[in-house]
Amino acid sequence: MADDHFQPRRQGDDLITKFVGETGGLMRALNALQARDGYVDAANVPLLAKAFNVTKAEVKGVISFYDDFTKAPKGEHVIRICQAEACQAVGARGLTAHALEKLGIGLGDTTADGKITVEAVYCLGLCASGPAAMVGGQLKGRVSATCLDKAIEEAGQ
Ligand code: FES
Repeated sequence: MADDHFQPRRQGDDLITKFVGETGGLMRALNALQARDGYVDAANVPLLAKAFNVTKAEVKGVISFYDDFTKAPKGEHVIRICQAEACQAVGARGLTAHALEKLGIGLGDTTADGKITVEAVYCLGLCASGPAAMVGGQLKGRVSATCLDKAIEEAGQ
């Protein structure tokens, strides 16, 4: 006999219903889930679709469109490396490959121990000082492989 009393509440229920009927409610609910959980759990997609009367594909589209929403938890430390044209011209792709190889992950992935996530970003406003990156929330220009190695070591890898 199933005992619903012991079923865990699906993550996000309260945050989703809180914004129903509000202007921009779906975005607000997604932002709240991202802020609380560090990502938007796929299990919330059907709940969001039902609550805001849109399709699951529309919810997934919004999550995919905005870089602020992620489908998995990010690492304790996030390294964002600019992949836009000016930074590419001064070695951003090689720098990115170096970091990913050192960590053994793909772009957008997090190390198995949950410590570091490496993400692509498209322009950080330091185009004249590329390659540019954001490491631990701090903007850095003329980033070298040595600089990234240091950041990775400081993060405990
Ligand atoms: S192109 Fe990389 S910071 Fe602008």
